[in-house]
Amino acid sequence: MPREVAASPDDMRILIDSATLTARVSELALQLHSAIGPGTSVHFVGVLTGAFVFLADLMRAYPGPSSCDFIAVSSYRYGAESAGAITLVRDLAEDITGRHVVIVEDIIDTGWTLSYLRARLLARGPASLRTVALLSKPARRQVDVPVELIGFEISDHFVVGYGLDLAGRYRNLPYIGVGPPGAAS
Ligand code: IMP
Ligand code: MG
Repeated sequence: MPREVAASPDDMRILIDSATLTARVSELALQLHSAIGPGTSVHFVGVLTGAFVFLADLMRAYPGPSSCDFIAVSSYRYGAESAGAITLVRDLAEDITGRHVVIVEDIIDTGWTLSYLRARLLARGPASLRTVALLSKPARRQVDVPVELIGFEISDHFVVGYGLDLAGRYRNLPYIGVGPPGAAS
């Protein structure tokens, strides 16, 4: 278990509070809308499971026409250390050919997951492909992958909440939290 995550929400340190998340998600939605163009429909592709909370808020803050779908890949935490070791666990329900696709990710860590997803989705001929990630840990990056919009750059802490989990827990927290160093060690 990563050392820095608290054993319970009681000793969790709030890294990004709920109001700050809400304000930033609205900004991201408006920036995306300007980039895509007012009349154009955007197709959000959420990366399960962590991105579902962010996608729900981003989509509601997006002022233009939109639709959504979800995709799931195996996590490197279960063994994959490179894009070649990542596998598709759940594919999209809809075809993305000719659509303006936006990958919605909770966090970019090594970059392998996003690198894999971009290659898989680009091969299907979308009209455009962008990525919006709520969080990014630049110090952890192993592969150089484009991310058009990033909510917050954070240092190398294991974070939970607002969709992100530790072994399935804490996704429901309304903030991004990190345990005080040593709390759960
Ligand atoms: P990457 O392939 O290393 O970029 O991994 C990205 C995925 O790892 C994210 O979509 C998350 O599911 C997971 N992940 C990476 N860092 C964290 C974290 O700090 N908390 C929770 N999940 C994380
Ligand atoms: Mg994820």
